[in-house]
Amino acid sequence: TQDPLVVFTPSGKRGRFPKGTPVLTAARQLGVDLDSVCGGRGICSKCQVAPSYGSFSKHAITVADDALSEWNAVEERYEQKRGLKPGRRLGCQAQIMGDVVIDVPAESQVHRQVVRKAASARVIEMDPATRLYFVEVDEPDMHEPTGDLERLARALEREWDIPAIRADQSLLARLQPVLRKGKFQVTVALHKSHADDVARVIEIWPGLHEGGLYGLAIDLGSTTIAAHLTDLDTGEVKASSGIMNPQIRFGEDLMSRVSYAMMNPGGDKEMTRAVREAIDALATGIAEEAGIDPILIVETVFVCNPVMHHLLLGIDPVELGQAPFALATSQSISMAARELDLGAINPRARTYILPCIAGHVGADAAAVALSEEPGKSEDLVLVVDVGTNAEILLGDTSRVLACSSPTGPAFEGAQISSGQRAAPGAIEAIRIDPDTKEPRFRVIGCDKWSDEEGFDAETAETGITGICGSGIIEAVAEMRMAGLLDESGLIGSAEATGTPRSVPEGRTHAYLVHDASAEGGPRITVTQGDIRAIQLAKSALYAGARLLMDERGVDHVDRVVLAGAFGAHISPKHAMVLGMIPDVPLDKVTSAGNAAGTGARIALCNVAARVEIERVVRQITKVETAIEPKFQEHFVAANAIPHKTDPFPELSK
Ligand code: FES
Repeated sequence: TQDPLVVFTPSGKRGRFPKGTPVLTAARQLGVDLDSVCGGRGICSKCQVAPSYGSFSKHAITVADDALSEWNAVEERYEQKRGLKPGRRLGCQAQIMGDVVIDVPAESQVHRQVVRKAASARVIEMDPATRLYFVEVDEPDMHEPTGDLERLARALEREWDIPAIRADQSLLARLQPVLRKGKFQVTVALHKSHADDVARVIEIWPGLHEGGLYGLAIDLGSTTIAAHLTDLDTGEVKASSGIMNPQIRFGEDLMSRVSYAMMNPGGDKEMTRAVREAIDALATGIAEEAGIDPILIVETVFVCNPVMHHLLLGIDPVELGQAPFALATSQSISMAARELDLGAINPRARTYILPCIAGHVGADAAAVALSEEPGKSEDLVLVVDVGTNAEILLGDTSRVLACSSPTGPAFEGAQISSGQRAAPGAIEAIRIDPDTKEPRFRVIGCDKWSDEEGFDAETAETGITGICGSGIIEAVAEMRMAGLLDESGLIGSAEATGTPRSVPEGRTHAYLVHDASAEGGPRITVTQGDIRAIQLAKSALYAGARLLMDERGVDHVDRVVLAGAFGAHISPKHAMVLGMIPDVPLDKVTSAGNAAGTGARIALCNVAARVEIERVVRQITKVETAIEPKFQEHFVAANAIPHKTDPFPELSK
């Protein structure tokens, strides 16, 4: 008689195995993705499977309910102590006795797919660099004098096929007490780098460590620093938090920070210290918020523009301020997190910094490329990541081009008279009635529009505090559509526009959005200066996009992806009215949310993605906006609203 047939779902992998083979062994032999931390000892429960019984015409096999062995003592003990979900078995204990279909639920897969929150449907496949391994280490023996570390290494090789490990001095100090406390059974967090094939011992716990492992994906922007605390087992984001970049006090935008470093001896060191301290505080805060011991944070991944990259690493950014904009290195960096003074997290945690594309096109653009994959697109896609600097990518399967454009911080609400960060209380959306010129708006933290019932009650706690990036973009576009602005961006007077909401402001005019000054509240206006700041920002953005289109020899793109911290909130129509992006059908404009942050999360959760982005970056054509005369030309022409560079057939529909 034939050996029993085992079919694993969802992979569909199948094979015949002698009766008595543990399910985990069969899975390993077939290359089925089934997790295990304890190496089949029945204590970690990572190997849970859901066997199916009954007949399966589709698979043409009939499965008897004794297709798996009875529960053994180990499985019984686990069930009594912890309990298994109904229908689940421990794959390392249950043995194959007859034909059976075995489902591996998502949580038991090592390379499980995590659905991203962002609008696009891509998933992150879990394959983190740092994992847990449970091992039984031989006890020391008078007759065979070897060190504890060597016996740990031998156990890891024997049980997990790990040929060599490296351990820091600081780990050695923990090793002996932990081994003895765990009676020589320990869980080790090992970091396997894709860069040098070395397995580093990051942490060690007595017995089975069940507290999990975490990583921080950090998007280090010029204006804000955002961090996502991610569970390295499930990929789940446990907490997200952001703070202002304290380097702002040295200069609002990148070039002013580079000049600060040039003008002030030791200025670069000051900025390095400031940003490192802020990141460390952010890490402490986010761990506290999630209720997680910071020692469990074993990895960090950074994405940032080249100037932030250099300042983070303690490299003077002065070379980035002048042609030919040479980077100290464009390669990715793998290093110890403590070298960045990150003292709050595990002292042996590792850091990975994505590669930079060029002197002005940084690891943040690389992260956007990783997240949005323009190089895999069949149609020509323009990806713009809107921030203080806009990262712009244009490409399809044949070729990808990238540039960065100095939009300034206006899109993030900075340099705007009533501007603020996107936070509760900020006006994030606005509509202006073309006839009455009256505004209505929505505020972050409140579901209702300002003219809906209950709006006041919902905003009572935070109040209305200002206007954020997406709000100001919509405001300018709406003002243009309502005839409050002319093509050159000039705000008309009350007489010219027919509304008392156009109020004098020095020698110019401003549009009054909200006035609570009588009650001691804010008076929110969009001033002529605000319009000019947005015009500069959007011209820089459009000129960058146009430059890439020139390089590629096209005058239109098939679709546009808007990314950036507030990319998800920008309405495509308003972006187009403003002339931020080229004219495409509105349904071809999508939002990707914070693509750079997502790219950082992908690199955090999946080592193969690091290899992938390092390859992709080498193939991207870099376009330098700063030295390209055409950029200036496009910039000037793009100043009008929408702009005078190209026709807008879709907008006129
Ligand atoms: Fe750990 Fe089965 S592999 S319980």
